[in-house]
Amino acid sequence: MLFPMVRFAVDPALKKGEGGNFVDVNLPLSEVTDKPKSVQFKVHKKDGWYSFDEVLTAWVLRDKGKILALSPVCKHLGCTVSWESNPQFPNTFFCPCHFGRYTKDGTNVPGTPPAKPLDHYETKEANGKLLIGPLLKT
Ligand code: FES
Repeated sequence: MLFPMVRFAVDPALKKGEGGNFVDVNLPLSEVTDKPKSVQFKVHKKDGWYSFDEVLTAWVLRDKGKILALSPVCKHLGCTVSWESNPQFPNTFFCPCHFGRYTKDGTNVPGTPPAKPLDHYETKEANGKLLIGPLLKT
């Protein structure tokens, strides 16, 4: 008698997570260049019994031939970083909240507030297009 109630309460925790899915972001690989491009994509998430779609953003680029998909969330206090948004700091990701900076590959610039590199998403290629997967925390 107790088991069905316990099963009901913990069911979401027993289900396989959804962090392993890759999303086609509708971006041909030929359009992934060394200049970072902002890409939005939708992922389906579940939190307990609640499921919802969330729109995420990644900065996508090629760095030394490797495709990167960087999170725009600053590792200092969570503001949004953008590419070359401050003319004073060309060729960097810039966070306007406290002047945090990151190099093109997402590495935090020493002497600025962020203490860690930007998180990045796993990426895959399929049929000439870019797929973005789970977020890998730094
Ligand atoms: S939140 Fe980005 S530098 Fe503080």
